[in-house]
Amino acid sequence: MQALDRRLDTAIRLAGEAGAIAMRLRPPPGGPQATLKGIQDWVTEADGTVERFLSDRLREAFPEDGFQGEEAGVGRAGRLRWVVDPIDGTANYMRGANRFCVSLGLLEDRTPLVGAIFAPALHEMFAARKGAGATLNGVAIRSADTADMSRATVEIGWSARRPDADFIALCARVKASGAVLRMGGSGALGLADVAAGRQDAYGEMHINLWDVAGALAILAETGAVVGDFMANDGATAGNPILACAPAIAEAMAALF
Ligand code: IPD
Repeated sequence: MQALDRRLDTAIRLAGEAGAIAMRLRPPPGGPQATLKGIQDWVTEADGTVERFLSDRLREAFPEDGFQGEEAGVGRAGRLRWVVDPIDGTANYMRGANRFCVSLGLLEDRTPLVGAIFAPALHEMFAARKGAGATLNGVAIRSADTADMSRATVEIGWSARRPDADFIALCARVKASGAVLRMGGSGALGLADVAAGRQDAYGEMHINLWDVAGALAILAETGAVVGDFMANDGATAGNPILACAPAIAEAMAALF
């Protein structure tokens, strides 16, 4: 466990430093200031800069660990592997908005061991190590005890990787269940908010491992119910994600 504690401490420190770099490079509020790499799928120079920083620092600290980043793909193999999203919520970031984060997850095969998600403009650090609980700014967090869909807040993420008609139909089903809907533009922070009990579910019909790797380790420590993201080829091809407060998990699964 000592080895994992060292990795958790390092992940928290590097997420903080990476967040500071992202803040320095964040464009001022205004129209889109980024390049499109797909439909409404943005990339900024900061994505590459922050990812290279994390890759270099993690290699120095743990040369034996693997590394996979959103922008450059699988850079190094290893029994333990870091999966990093340098800026999750790029669509918010590139317009000078606050809801974005740096996400680091450490996995052993399919098992998430460590997660650190830092939202520098919100001054929020979510972190967890397998078996040691999850925290937000050092304070323990739990998923919510909401048991009734008519009192639930549910976030549904969007990407162009699934048909819009399916996304709209899913939103309609969730809304008809009585829940209120949100869409915040950062899958990692949406999942972290479920971990902290700030919302009751996050669902998205397709998302990639780098978006969720940090959050999976955090959610696992909070009582939230999470679908098997790593099933089939999830690590390389992505998968649907559904993370829920336990008492509405069955109802959400039926809607999803
Ligand atoms: C995206 C965000 C978004 C989610 C997309 C992701 P990016 O990641 O997490 O909320 O709906 O599926 O691709 O591009 O901001 O790193």
